[in-house]
Amino acid sequence: MENRQINFFKSKDFNTVLKPFKNGTVVKIDSFDIRENQKELKIGLFGWYAICPSKEVKKDKLYYFSLYDEPLVLYRDENENVRCIKNICPHRGASFFGGTLEDGVLTCPYHGAKFSSGGSCQNLDRITCSHIVDNNYDNYAKKIHLSQYKTSEINGYIFVHFSKESETDLNNISEDIPISNYELYENGFSHKEYVFEEVLVDFKCDWSRIIENHLDILHIFWVHGDTIPDKDVNKNVLVSFNQKININPKYIESIYYYKNDPSKEFIRIKYIPPGRILIYKEDPSLSRYLQVLDHIPLGNNKARVIVRHYRKFLQNKLLNNLLLFKENQRKIFYKIFDEDYMILKTQTYNHNMGFISKDEIKLLGEDRIINYFWKWYKNSENKDNPWRNTINTKNIDVYDKVILKYPPEIKKLEIINNLDIIRKTIVRFAAPLIFFMLII
Ligand code: FES
Ligand SMILES: [Fe+2]
Repeated sequence: MENRQINFFKSKDFNTVLKPFKNGTVVKIDSFDIRENQKELKIGLFGWYAICPSKEVKKDKLYYFSLYDEPLVLYRDENENVRCIKNICPHRGASFFGGTLEDGVLTCPYHGAKFSSGGSCQNLDRITCSHIVDNNYDNYAKKIHLSQYKTSEINGYIFVHFSKESETDLNNISEDIPISNYELYENGFSHKEYVFEEVLVDFKCDWSRIIENHLDILHIFWVHGDTIPDKDVNKNVLVSFNQKININPKYIESIYYYKNDPSKEFIRIKYIPPGRILIYKEDPSLSRYLQVLDHIPLGNNKARVIVRHYRKFLQNKLLNNLLLFKENQRKIFYKIFDEDYMILKTQTYNHNMGFISKDEIKLLGEDRIINYFWKWYKNSENKDNPWRNTINTKNIDVYDKVILKYPPEIKKLEIINNLDIIRKTIVRFAAPLIFFMLII
């Protein structure tokens, strides 16, 4: 990994020109502007990660996932507060997989230890063992607490604050960056004016590869040109952009303007580490759409993305139902992520793999934001060492079957969605037509 240095194709004024692709496509970014007084990103790999939509964590259901290969569970306690615990029973280390949750009281499937935040220690930030079959039951139970990470629920997402260690008392966890940094309102969006569609997607590839992919403007035209329903984004367009990058302690933002009309913005991409990317156009308060992408490092070559598309247009529910908007939108999402996956799963390039040498690739001007990301990522990895669990879980993939459940890695939901479109189309259009023909 240490030898993963990246070469830049540089010219003195940062001007770059791409050679046309075979069919004549050229997407080039001619001038490059970095604002003066740039600051460095202050956030590293520890901090707030959006893990799933709030609705995924249902009453009396355990939600299994992992962060950097550390097995974790989300659930709602007796006060409906979301808890994020290590998936390890403190008695003999069993996983809670197969355990039960009743009115917020968690029972281990191995020997029946019960855990609740209203346990004998009376500290609601702790989850205390309240029952286990043991001669020293009373003493044992009082001293045993589950290890937790802090959680927060905002904008319909559950966030987990991943830090150096989980704690048995949440009061011991301090936050460097407040959760408000991820609040859509704080980022300028009056999100209540929007409606949204979302999907979760799972990839067997390194999570930082996916972030890199979402910072990569060029591939949108080439890889997704046939799928994105925008006539200006396809393989045959000839576009060139000016790019402006703003770096702030809390985010990096890259704004692309049309070269032939510098006042016209094509898109802006805002990366808020460690895992969130916002894609929109112009002033956030005016943007007609907003794409929120949350990247979750489940483990070594295992990653999840939550994709949410907010829009101010097409808000009429009846019309949306009639057009099967949600189902068709999901179909597009799945197709787009399939297209990316074709590239990403074979290009896997993670923290353990330094097999691309510095002489083998040359980055271009528009890859500058990607290069910035990689440098920040590498520094943050060295500083935070979030992959500490990977060493122990290497080559153990039994947990994959429990946590990987979404396309493109698992096709089931995609197939169900396609069948749904066929079924609903028949019910909405063909059946009334047949009925009408029968009665005439
Ligand atoms: S391992 Fe959980 S109760 Fe024994
Ligand atoms: Fe993509």
